[in-house]
Parts: sequence; C-alpha cells; structure tokens
Amino acid sequence: MNGHDTVRPVRWTDEGLYLLDQRRLPAAEDEVLCRDSGDVARAIAGMVVRGAPAIGIAAAYGAVLAAREHLPGDPAGWEGALDALAAARPTAVNLAWALRRMRSVSLGREPQQRLLDEAHAIAREDLAANRRMGALGAALIQEPAGVLTHCNTGSLATGGFGTALGVIRQAWAEGRLERVYADETRPWLQGARLTAWELLQDNIPVTLLADAAAPLLMRQGRVQWVIVGADRVTANGDVANKIGTYGLALAARHLGVKFMVVAPSSTVDMGTRDGEAIPIEHREATELLSLGGQRVAAAGADGWNPVFDVTPAHLVDVFVTERGVVHAPDAARMAALFGRDTVDTRLGSGG
Ligand code: MRU
Repeated sequence: MNGHDTVRPVRWTDEGLYLLDQRRLPAAEDEVLCRDSGDVARAIAGMVVRGAPAIGIAAAYGAVLAAREHLPGDPAGWEGALDALAAARPTAVNLAWALRRMRSVSLGREPQQRLLDEAHAIAREDLAANRRMGALGAALIQEPAGVLTHCNTGSLATGGFGTALGVIRQAWAEGRLERVYADETRPWLQGARLTAWELLQDNIPVTLLADAAAPLLMRQGRVQWVIVGADRVTANGDVANKIGTYGLALAARHLGVKFMVVAPSSTVDMGTRDGEAIPIEHREATELLSLGGQRVAAAGADGWNPVFDVTPAHLVDVFVTERGVVHAPDAARMAALFGRDTVDTRLGSGG
C-alpha cells in the first residue's frame, strides 16, 4: 500500500469475515466478525459494510461461509443462503454481480477452496480496477483543481483505493488538486464520518460542507469537477448513486462544472435499459429523523428516506471505468465498451 492508501474494510481469516464497522467510524475503529452468511447479510443490510463494490466483495465471502454451512451435502441450502445475501440491499448491482460469479464457479471436489479463491479474486480485481480508474480519471483533471465528492467511494467502499475517491487520491498524489471538498452526505454522514476519516488517515486534507452548500461552492468557482461513484450504471449510461447526486449533477451542468462518474464494470448493468428500472432503496424514516440515535425532528413528523437517486446520462460529462473512459455516455457508447456481457439483474438470483 502506498502512503495515500492504507484503509481496508474487509478482512478474511479462517475464523470468518472481519468487517470494519462503518456505523461506528470515526468514533471507534472496531471490526465485526461474521461467522456465517446470515451474519454477512445482516451486516450488509445494517450498513456495517457499505459501498457498492465492498458489498459485492463481502457477499462473495458470505458465499464462502455459506459453503462451509451447506456444501457439499446441501446445495439447495447454499443457493438459499446466496438468495438471502442478494436480497440484503437492492440498488447496488455489484451484489448480484458478485453472487453470480460465485454461482458460476465450478465447485469440483474442494468447493470451499474454489469459492474462497474466487472471492479473493473478486477482491483483488476490484483493487486493480480502482488503481486503473484512478490513473485514467486523474489524467482528465487539469491542475490546479478543486474537486467536490459525495458520500464515501474510497477504500472503505471497495476492495481498496476507491472509485471516485481513488481518482481523487491519485490526482492528489500527482499534485493536480488544490483542495478536496466533501459533502457531509445526510442522513448517514458517509462524507463527514467516512470520507473525511479515510482521507485524513492517508494525509489528504479535506473540507466538509453541508450538502445544501454544494451549488454555492460551484457558483463561487471553488471546484472545477464533481467526482462521484455509482451503485448501478444502466445500458444508456444513467447512474444510480447516493441520494443528492442528481442535484449535484443538475447544479454542475447549470454552473459549468464538470461531472465525472467513476465505477468499475462490476457496477455496469447492461441488462437494464435505463435508470427508471433501477430499484431504489428506501430506508427507515428514523435514520432521517434522528442524529446519533437521538431524535431531532419534531415529534409526530414523518420522514421520506430514499437513499439513492438516478442521474440521467446526459448530465454526465465523463464515465471512467477500468475498461476505459466514456465521454458523454449514451447507449451506443456504453454498448461499444461493454457489449451486453455484464450481469442481467432481472434474473434475480443471477440465473
Ligand atoms: O448507502 P451506501 O453508503 O452504501 O451508498 C454508497 C454510495 O452511494 C457510493 O457512492 C457508491 O456505492 C459507490 S462506492 C465506490
């Protein structure tokens, strides 16, 4: 690991899967041990581990734990455990993608070892993809630039290095960045708690702002790029990402700020035509009405808590993947890079 990349959210041992507990950061740096696949599914649903690629990697190791419980004697039990993992969160397509890969492993006489090798490969390939995207994305940034990011797309959200934060990490290392701004990202505060912590761990200064301050930041000319990750990119280039991303893209286009999406091919869903068809996760209103477990909203108020939104492709200036860069993404440019070979999530269990 280099000096700007030290955090890892997922750690496999013979005992089970250790997950850095992202609900507790930065106050505590605790790990949660998942001993079976049910533990992993609950950890994904409960946000112990989060971020599209990290969810996929955790689920892959969950499939290994399920194999310990069910294989070779009970393949139906193994399939059922994978279905439960797939259902843990709906929007990030990496989950279905990783489980589909695990299901396609030829199990042979040593199913657990074969599956563990595949989970390690998924994690390793994600890290390599992130480094590649870091180089491709950073090369697009003319120095000296200010950048704004949203949510957490860093090492914590991936196998390491990060997607959008990987580009920022790389651009920082190359001296291209003047300042990194991060939205606090209500209501889970992935920006304030996770992105800020992770950048500071790696000696990259960061300035936080309330989500609502982003258009003013752009208007004042403090940032030249908004750089975000994705939970799913559809065949026409529409992008599902953390709630608030769509508003950033609208403001960026209006104010002449460039908008970059960074995501690996495991986040691309060529089986879904456009963003309308993406299932958007809604979480409990209490997450919105409370802060740090303390109710802050007026008693009796209801809450509406969609945790992702969809940014239409026409608002994206550039989509960076490990396979290359797509300027002004649309269906034809997406098909040219991805064909139709990625996961079809309409098959649910990965069929
Ligand atoms: O709800 P979260 O924290 O899992 O949401 C994460 C995001 O929206 C990220 O931007 C996305 O998964 C890309 S992470 C490389």
